[in-house]
Amino acid sequence: MKPLKHLPAWKALEAHFKAMRDFDMRTAFREDAQRFDRLSLRCGNLLLDYSKNRVTDETLALLARLARESGLEGLRDDMFSGKRINFTEDRAVLHTALRAPARPPLLVEGIEIEAEVARVLGRMQHFVESVHNGSWRGHTGKPIRDVVNIGIGGSDLGPAMVCHALDHYAVESVRVHFVSNLDPAHLATTLKTLDPETTLFIVASKTFTTLETLANANSAKAWLLAALRAPAAVARHFVALSTNAQAVEGFGIDPENMFIFWDWVGGRYSLWSAIGLSIALQIGWGNFQALLAGAHAMDLHFREAPLDANMPAILGLLGIWYANFWGTDTYGIFPYDQRLRLLVPFLQQLDMESNGKNVNRANKRVNYNTGPIVWGAPGTNGQHAFFELVHQGTRLIPTDFLVAAVNHTPLADQHEWLLANCLAQTEALLKGKSRAVIEAELIAQGMSREEARALAPHKVFPGNRPSNTLLYQKLDPHTLGMLIALYEHKVFVQGAIWQINSFDQWGVELGKQLAPPIRAALSSVRVIGEHDGSTLGLIADIRRRRGLST
Ligand code: F6P
Repeated sequence: MKPLKHLPAWKALEAHFKAMRDFDMRTAFREDAQRFDRLSLRCGNLLLDYSKNRVTDETLALLARLARESGLEGLRDDMFSGKRINFTEDRAVLHTALRAPARPPLLVEGIEIEAEVARVLGRMQHFVESVHNGSWRGHTGKPIRDVVNIGIGGSDLGPAMVCHALDHYAVESVRVHFVSNLDPAHLATTLKTLDPETTLFIVASKTFTTLETLANANSAKAWLLAALRAPAAVARHFVALSTNAQAVEGFGIDPENMFIFWDWVGGRYSLWSAIGLSIALQIGWGNFQALLAGAHAMDLHFREAPLDANMPAILGLLGIWYANFWGTDTYGIFPYDQRLRLLVPFLQQLDMESNGKNVNRANKRVNYNTGPIVWGAPGTNGQHAFFELVHQGTRLIPTDFLVAAVNHTPLADQHEWLLANCLAQTEALLKGKSRAVIEAELIAQGMSREEARALAPHKVFPGNRPSNTLLYQKLDPHTLGMLIALYEHKVFVQGAIWQINSFDQWGVELGKQLAPPIRAALSSVRVIGEHDGSTLGLIADIRRRRGLST
C-alpha cells in the first residue's frame, strides 16, 4: 500500500489546491448556468445538491482519481462480500447483509449469511406482532403498553434516532422509551411514569458486558421484582438483543427471549439487526422492512454507480477535500427537520468512532488529518444559536443541510417558512454580503457616511462558504433508511481513503480500564493504585465530602 500522500492524485490535488485558493463560487455560478445541473445528483427521491462547494470539474475528477488510486472500489467489494476488513478485530463487516434480500444467497466462509439473518428477522417479526396484538402479555396477564430499550452507544443512538424520526408512524398500542446513561436519573425519570405490569424491557448490548447497560438493566429488574414479587416475571418482561448468549443467560434472561446478532455487525451499524427491535415495536413490522429496503437501495447505488455519480463517494470526497486540503477541522450537520433531532448524536458516533483514528492499515501513524469533529443541530434552532460563527467566524466549516419537500405535519404555512429558511441559509453562506452594499444600505437608512463606514465591517458576510443540501420528498421509513446508509457509506469512503480501519474502536477502552480502581478509591478505607496529581486531588475532595480520610 502506497502512503496516501505519495499517491499521484494526492500530489495533483495539492497542486490544484494552490490554484483553487482564491476560487469564488459566486463567479463560478455566474459563469456557468448549468452548475447546479452538473453538480447535483439524484438517488430515489433524494436529491444531493453539491454545487455550493469550492470545486471545479477538475477538482471532482482529481478526487475521483484519488478514490480509485486508494483502491476504494476494491475495498467496497471486499466489505460487501464479507472479507475480514476489520483487521484489528479479525471480523467481516456485513451490516449491508442485514438489509439485503435473501436471494441471491451470500455465502461467507461457508455460512449462508442471509439465511441466518432471515431466521432472526422471522423471530423478531413474530415477537413484534405478538406484542402488538396483545398475545404477548406481562406476568399478571396484562398486555404490554410501554417498552424501554436499555442500551448505550450503537445499542441506543441508532434505534432512538429512528424512533424519534418516525414517531409519526408509531403504532398506538405501545410507547417506546430509551435509557442509556449510567446517571440513575435517566432510568429513574423514565420509570416514574411506567406501570411494571405493562412494561417490557429490552436489554440491548452487543457484548452484554457494558457497565452502563448492565447497571440500568439490574436496576430495572429490581424495580420490576419489587412490584411483581415473582422471579418468573422476568421472563415476561425482559428480552435481550446481543451476540453473547452466555452472558444473557447469566443475567437471568431466558435464551428463548434473546434475539441474536453477529460479530460482523459493528455496534454503530447495528440498528438494522436485532438491535432494531425497539424500532419495529414502535413503527410496526412493515415500516421496519421499508427502512431496511431504503438502506438496501442506497447499498445498491453505492455498489453500482460510477464514482463521479455516486452519492456516498461524492460526500466523502468533498469531506476529504475540505479536511485535508483546506484544513477544516469540523463538519456541521443541520437537519431542517425536527424529527431528525437525534441525527447529529447518531452521526457523531458513526463518524467519530469510525474515523477518529491515527494509525493506518500498515500499522503506521498517519501524517494527515482523519475524521472531523461532527456537530450540529436542527434548523431553524441553530440559526438563533451558533450560525453567527458559521457565517462570520474565522473558520471554514463544510456543512450538510437536510430538508423534506413535504412535511408530515402541515400546520399553517410553517413548512414553507422552514424550507425557505433552509435554502436562505445556504444562499447566505454562498452569496455573503459585501461591505459596499452594507454601507450603502446604512446610509440609505439615514446613517452618516462615517458611522456607516465604522459599522459596516461588523455586518459583512464573507460568503463563499460551502454547503451540501440533501432534499427528500418526506421523512418516511424508506427515505430515512437511504439517508442513514448514505452516511454509513460516506464514512466508509473516507476511512478507505485515509487508509484506516473504520470498524474498530480501541479508543474507548482506556477510560473503561481506569474507572474500576477510581471507583474503589472513592469509598475504600485508603486510596490504592497510582493516579496523577489532578485525579488524586479530585478523589481526595470527593472523599472529604463523604467524611472519609484522604
Ligand atoms: O464503548 C463504546 C461501545 O463499545 C460502542 O462501540 C458500542 O456501540 C457501545 O459501546 C455499546 O456496546 P454494547 O452494545 O456492547 O453494549
